Amino acid sequence: MAKIVLGLASAHSPMLSLQPDMWPLFAERDKGNKMLTAVPSGEVVSYETLLEQTSPSVVTKANQENFDAQHAACQKAITTLEETLAEANPDVVVIIGDDQEELFFDDNMPLFAIYWGDKMRLIPRGQDAPANSILGASGWGYGDVEMDVPVNSQLALYLIEKLLEADFDMAQCRYLKDEYSGSVGPSGYIGSSIVTEKHRQGMPHAYAYVVKRIMNGKVIPIVPVIQNTFYPPNQPTPKRCYDLGRAIAKAIESWDSDKRVAIVASGGLSHFTVDEEIDWMALNGMKNKDAEALSSLPRNRLNSGHSEILNWVTAAGALEHLDFEVVDYVPVYRSPAGTGGGWGFGRWQ
Ligand SMILES: [Fe+2]
Repeated sequence: MAKIVLGLASAHSPMLSLQPDMWPLFAERDKGNKMLTAVPSGEVVSYETLLEQTSPSVVTKANQENFDAQHAACQKAITTLEETLAEANPDVVVIIGDDQEELFFDDNMPLFAIYWGDKMRLIPRGQDAPANSILGASGWGYGDVEMDVPVNSQLALYLIEKLLEADFDMAQCRYLKDEYSGSVGPSGYIGSSIVTEKHRQGMPHAYAYVVKRIMNGKVIPIVPVIQNTFYPPNQPTPKRCYDLGRAIAKAIESWDSDKRVAIVASGGLSHFTVDEEIDWMALNGMKNKDAEALSSLPRNRLNSGHSEILNWVTAAGALEHLDFEVVDYVPVYRSPAGTGGGWGFGRWQ
């Protein structure tokens, strides 16, 4: 039977692939972000409101000296994950991620989906953008060469079938279209419609990041598990994610194959504002194998970027048999308004 031999979890922000002297550019971009949430209420607020509310201790954290040290810490953590994966050398990597207005919009937004085509196209992003823009300078972190990433469609199909038997109504995807466009919202915490114009689009960045930064040149067949963490009204609950993880593990362990499988959670932890408390609730839940704590994380603090913590929760459900270790946790306050991210890196061995 197949065996789950390793788990990894990594933030996947563009900041991680951007030189720290460009981090202040993000603060500028934050001013127009419609998904900034107050901590701890989770309420969506403007940049100006955050600026008024932020404590003085946070205001002073956004400085270049911190940025340089935090950038170095993140690169070291990513390298550790990369080396851990290379050492374990699994045959398949199941990636638990989310789609962020890439393949799915409000015309059809599956709560959980599995991609089971035999390959998934990776299209580099930001290659036409100016080199001194965030997009142009960080795009490489999601792949710099267009390619078809192999999918272990046999395991992907098996997971769909087994998860259906376990009462999870999985959506399935088998191929990508050439171009994507659409809109999300207004709905729930998203106050207005967010429109994406038609463009070429490959695999979502949650998956492309793992291929580029964690596999780093040695591409291993993947199985993309896609969760709608971001978009109301059909975001999964933490409990549903944890239970899905458990069901994924059970299915993999019943797969009649000698393959060695790794599970990688992509995204999180808290962003676009930093919520260190919810991040540590999640990290401690994983360290303590506390299914109850992970299943009852407060949903009002799991909107917007924070919602990607759910990818870690699903992975934790699948990796209960292994021990979790925080490789590093780097809370980056990139603006005096407390915007930024709690960049987390972890592994189960
Ligand atoms: Fe993301």
